[in-house]
Amino acid sequence: MAEFHTVCQVQDLADGEGKTVAIGTKLIAVFRDNGQFYAIDDMCPHMGASLSGGYVAKGIVTCPWHAWRFRLNDGAWADNPRLKISCYAVRVEGDDVQVQG
Ligand code: FES
Repeated sequence: MAEFHTVCQVQDLADGEGKTVAIGTKLIAVFRDNGQFYAIDDMCPHMGASLSGGYVAKGIVTCPWHAWRFRLNDGAWADNPRLKISCYAVRVEGDDVQVQG
């Protein structure tokens, strides 16, 4: 089973913000939405934009380039959930935000 890695502190992300973090060679977008933390692949499967810079609302991030929308809780493309990007477990330990990967 993959380990949890501390990727940032709780106070590093305001509600509605995202941040790109690296675990090994993987780039992961961590988001805070409505007090919850989420982690999905950072790279948009359309043309490779960084999803951490997208607009976050109601459990969905909208890609900053062409507005594809992905669900934060499972990485599914909101407009066609058969297409999915990877989603990672997140936990908060004290002030540490930890992602499993
Ligand atoms: S690169 Fe994300 S929608 Fe085009």
